[in-house]
Amino acid sequence: MSFQALYQTKRMSAADAAQLIQNNDTIVVGTAAGEPPSLLAALSERRRELSDVRVSQILALKKYGYFDPSTAKNVRHAAYFLGGASRAGAQEGWSDFVPCSFSDIPSMIRRKQTPSEVVFCMASPMDDKGYMSLGLSPDYCMAGASVARATLLEVNPHVPSTHGDCKIHISQVAGLTESSDPIIEVGAPKIGPVQEAIGKYVADLIPDGATLQIGYGGIPDAVVRQLTNKRDLGIHTEMLGDGILSLIEAGVVTNTRKNINTGKVLATFALGSKKLYDFMDKNPMIEMHPADVTNDPYLAGQNDNLHAINATLQVDLLGQCGSESLGYSPFSGTGGQADFVRAANRSNGGKAFIVVPSTAKSDTISRIVPVLSPGTFVTTSKNDVNYVVTEYGVAQLRGKSAKQRAEALIAIAHPNFRAELRAEASRMRLL
Ligand code: COA
Repeated sequence: MSFQALYQTKRMSAADAAQLIQNNDTIVVGTAAGEPPSLLAALSERRRELSDVRVSQILALKKYGYFDPSTAKNVRHAAYFLGGASRAGAQEGWSDFVPCSFSDIPSMIRRKQTPSEVVFCMASPMDDKGYMSLGLSPDYCMAGASVARATLLEVNPHVPSTHGDCKIHISQVAGLTESSDPIIEVGAPKIGPVQEAIGKYVADLIPDGATLQIGYGGIPDAVVRQLTNKRDLGIHTEMLGDGILSLIEAGVVTNTRKNINTGKVLATFALGSKKLYDFMDKNPMIEMHPADVTNDPYLAGQNDNLHAINATLQVDLLGQCGSESLGYSPFSGTGGQADFVRAANRSNGGKAFIVVPSTAKSDTISRIVPVLSPGTFVTTSKNDVNYVVTEYGVAQLRGKSAKQRAEALIAIAHPNFRAELRAEASRMRLL
């Protein structure tokens, strides 16, 4: 049978694809723009007939019908990272938060530490060899497809067909539904003077020829905007966004000084504008790979001068970063932060930056604190942290004593909190 004929045998409506879900299944869903709207809407429609189905995803963008506390016994979300759609459920206890580093998810799936009976993902149209690209989120979907009972794809002509280890063959697929709506887009994050100031400190420490990982949030984006005068940058990152596209368009990304994947931009998922998705399509410069490739600290750290830029919520005086919870209340997730901090620490000439505004809530709360709020999840440990940057400067912590760390961090705290932090540090015998 030709691949086209095989494709036709697997074509079905989203409602019919949702009928392939069984009680107790875990559905692994593509990240962000890789989440398939028609399949998730059809699952939501069917949710009351099902029991103990889990939807497992790192970043959910849209609140589909199944995000519903009254049907959580039927279909329940399990998040590796919380965003706007999934945060309330995890905080209120009707959905789950699964702690892990992004790099570990593919192996957790392959080793069956986390179940994966079904995969739901966006895919590009099939090529003449029978392959479709999961280029928006090969991250853990490739691993999911290798063990799942049913891989169900939503094929959409707007999904870029990308290079890298992100292709799936029609013979591996249980069902396909087609859609043609535009892919979910997100705008640029808001950047104010605090983010700008932090961005400038970081940009000044990034040399020409550096390879970059750009994290999630406003400050990493503010750094990117200040890099347009650099030369020969490389990209080895987790999330491909419009900030990176703007650097490529400015001609500052050549990838020529990368030690591995030379000449290529590497990422594991994409989230941004239509312009970004169109740019990725059949572009030999862009390679999309699973997260155990992009985020593996050993692999990423083989690049010299790897500079990793990631945001946090709170930092204590030893440099422990609580980037994913506010006290015991989960807020986001580890994502690739710990992966890339370790990768940059391994890299010759590398620097791991943790960026944080000095205060929250109109300067009423210091984000540099003597001890993390009770219950805070530590994302970057005291042994891994290196550069912490606020709008008041840079604290370089690796190799420094506890006393030196406290001094350096108090010096970049908001001036209104420095005396209080100093007094508390003395009481804790840190100073
Ligand atoms: N106490 C109380 N509230 C606090 C706080 C604190 N210590 N720190 C932050 N907040 C509030 C902020 O005021 C803000 O609330 P608002 O939106 O009502 O103003 C909110 O928490 C978010 O803080 P902000 O600094 O704006 O976060 P951000 O949008 O820059 O995102 C995260 C930062 C959450 C993405 C980041 O901490 C994270 O998840 N890191 C781990 C993952 C990661 O780094 N991945 C990288 C690979 S892609």
